[in-house]
Amino acid sequence: MARVALVTGGSRGIGEAISKALKAAGYEVAATYAGNDEKAAAFTAETGIKTYKWNVADYEASKEGLAKVEADLGPIDIVVANAGITRDAPFHRMTPEQWSEVIDTNLTGVFNTVHPLWNGMRERGFGRVVVISSVNGQKGQFGQVNYAATKAGDLGIVKSLAQEGAAKGITANAICPGYIATEMVMAVPEKVREKIIAGIPAGRLGEPEEIARCVTFLVSDDAGFINGSTISANGAQFFS
Ligand code: CAA
Repeated sequence: MARVALVTGGSRGIGEAISKALKAAGYEVAATYAGNDEKAAAFTAETGIKTYKWNVADYEASKEGLAKVEADLGPIDIVVANAGITRDAPFHRMTPEQWSEVIDTNLTGVFNTVHPLWNGMRERGFGRVVVISSVNGQKGQFGQVNYAATKAGDLGIVKSLAQEGAAKGITANAICPGYIATEMVMAVPEKVREKIIAGIPAGRLGEPEEIARCVTFLVSDDAGFINGSTISANGAQFFS
């Protein structure tokens, strides 16, 4: 039977490409989303991939939602923690709310997504955890103290989970996308975005599918010895 894969934030942006790529690779895929019902319905109509709505920042909602997915599709062997938000502002203008929203969604959201699945993976002796971090977690970014903190935190999470999961057949890895052509990046003011692109040696934004292909590789049975690593996919913008 096909393994079940869950992608948070899986109906839009990079997550949408990941969901589609995993389905194309033969997995049974479930995608979560937070609020955009219309887009989620269109995504399901186009792909046949089931969507589930919950807030990854809420532990109980995540636990309940994950249990529902498992009741529908079977045990989740593959989890891609992709859901994330930005609330960019220079630090001197960043509000406590902007800090907390990003921490709760991007960082605590990873805990809330992986933790309820962890014991099942340990019991079955197989698991694949992929966390979508960011180049800005590696290098920092003007206007993103909150976001960069979460994305750097992702790297600590996977390095620790890798050590805890390895003996149980579980891998945990991160991908650090650079600037990818999604709504999130398009929301950056055009002038700022042009400057960013000028700093990418590839001379372009990445495509969501370029990140999705990294995920498909990391979750495969063949990638079992790759554990605690970080794949950078950023058009040579930054080397860690
Ligand atoms: N380095 C140094 N100075 C910078 C700077 C930088 N990277 N960016 C802006 N500044 C300076 C500006 O030159 C300006 O200086 P002056 O006042 O002296 O002219 C000052 O900071 C204010 O800049 P803005 O006019 O842009 O100020 P703002 O308040 O309108 O916007 C901002 C601030 C929200 C941080 C805006 O600059 C911005 O959106 N920057 C981009 C942040 C970014 O890269 N976000 C990534 C989003 S995509 C994503 O997160 C996905 C991913 O993983 C990659």
